[in-house]
Order: sequence, then C-alpha cells, then structure tokens
Amino acid sequence: MTSIQFANVTKTYHLKREVYRSLASQCNEAFLRILKPHSDTKDYIHALDNVSFEITQGESVGIIGANGAGKSTLLRLIANISKPTSGTITVHGQIAPLLEVGAGFHPELTGRENIFLNGVILGMSKHDIRKCFDQIVTFAELDKFIDSPVKLYSSGMYIRLGFSVAVHSNFDILLADEIFAVGDYRFRMKCLDKFGLLKKQGKTIVLISHSLEQLQKHCQRGILIRRGKIVIDAEIEQVCNQYQNMEQM
Ligand SMILES: Nc1ncnc2c1ncn2[C@@H]1O[C@H](COP(=O)(O)OP(=O)(O)O)[C@@H](O)[C@H]1O
Ligand SMILES: [Mg+2]
Repeated sequence: MTSIQFANVTKTYHLKREVYRSLASQCNEAFLRILKPHSDTKDYIHALDNVSFEITQGESVGIIGANGAGKSTLLRLIANISKPTSGTITVHGQIAPLLEVGAGFHPELTGRENIFLNGVILGMSKHDIRKCFDQIVTFAELDKFIDSPVKLYSSGMYIRLGFSVAVHSNFDILLADEIFAVGDYRFRMKCLDKFGLLKKQGKTIVLISHSLEQLQKHCQRGILIRRGKIVIDAEIEQVCNQYQNMEQM
C-alpha cells in the first residue's frame, strides 16, 4: 500500500532580501513592477522543483543532500505543515513528525504536561497517554526532570522527549529531521534498536541525516536531492556513494 506519494510537486518561496537601495532605484523597481507585473522571477526560490516519488508502507527512506537542497521542505510538505505551490501530495496514515527541536512543546509547561499536550497533538487519547506515560519517561531518560519546565531542557533532552512520545503514539509514518545531530551516543543506539522494532511493525520511516553511516544502518532506500530536484532515488548504498562523489567534485 502507498504511504506517501508526490506527483510533480513544486514549492516556491519568496526570497526575502534586506538590502540598501537608493530611493531612485526603488522608484525604478516600482515602475517596472507596474509595467511588467509578472516579469520578476529572480526573487523566488524553488525549494522543491517538480518532484515525484512514491513510498510504500513499511519502507524506511533516507533523504540526503547538501544544506539548502530542499530536504526539510519535503518533510514539512509530507507533514502538511506547509502546502505545495503546485502538484499533489497524497499521504495515507497518521504522521508523527519530529521536524524541529521543541516543536509541539510549550516551553513554560513541564515535561509531564508536555507529554499530554504532544500526545494529544499526535492523536492519542488521554487514557492512552496515561497508560504509556511511564514508558515514555523511562525511554526518554527524563525521570528526574519530568516536573521541570521544558524551557530548561537541552536540545538533546527535547529530542529525547519528542522521539519518545512519537514512538509511543499510534502512528503509521515517522518523519525525523536531523534528530541524530543533537542526540548523544546512547540516544542514537536506542534509536537504532527502536527503528528495528518499528520496521518489523511495518511503520514507514523517512529520515533526514548528514550521517551517511546512520542512514545506511536505518534505511534501505535513499533519495538524493540537489537544488530542489531528485538526483537519484535508489538503494541507500548507491545513493550515499553518489552523494559523496558529488561532494568531492
Ligand atoms: N520559510 C521559508 N521562506 C523562504 N525560503 C525558505 C523557507 N524555508 C526554506 N527556504 C529556502 O528553501 C531552500 C530549501 O530549504 P530547506 O528545505 O530548509 O533545505 P535543507 O533542509 O535541505 O537544508 C533554501 O534555499 C531555503 O533558504
Ligand atoms: Mg533542513
């Protein structure tokens, strides 16, 4: 069964620039905009440019690419946090998004309160959250800090809590944007175990990471993106090799 499908998806952002321009040049630009309203294309950036792919339920896919390639944009579109400029996106199943450190948490609330808040956002009932509350806290290794406001947490602690709530929720698709970058060694090892288990349960996993080694461990398939376009969508080793060769050029 198809889990995620992108058909000719383009996402365009307006490039915001704060540059000093003289009054004369600003008048000139205003004039040009009146004369040729659709002529100015240089202020737009195609974060994703006509991207198509399909991910089947149970696949684990690594998204690879240099900074600014369009990886996070792709995950935000899957999570329905932003909308495509054109093209269609189809997603089947409940999503657990781990896209930004602290997203889905309220800084003034405690870890305990945030587990309930985040759990509800992920579609869990209060009853379900209460049932697995202790497991969530133990997995995140935050027992001592669970009644402290999360604004006092380090980014690693945020990620541990976010990951723990997410994997205890009843999701079908896990999206993770560079979670290994802030997690420590122990956390990475735990993720490794957990991913193995999630894969056996048939969950779909889409990961962004600059650690090719981690991606090769977690994923069977890779999608390499460069300047908003897919360069290669293939078996993970092949994609990592191509990325390394490309970077050395
Ligand atoms: N909200 C936004 N507004 C304007 N430009 C954006 C926005 N989000 C991303 N971009 C631009 O889109 C491109 C792709 O960004 P992103 O998907 O974050 O790249 P990556 O995650 O691969 O590093 C970049 O050039 C970035 O500057
Ligand atoms: Mg990114």
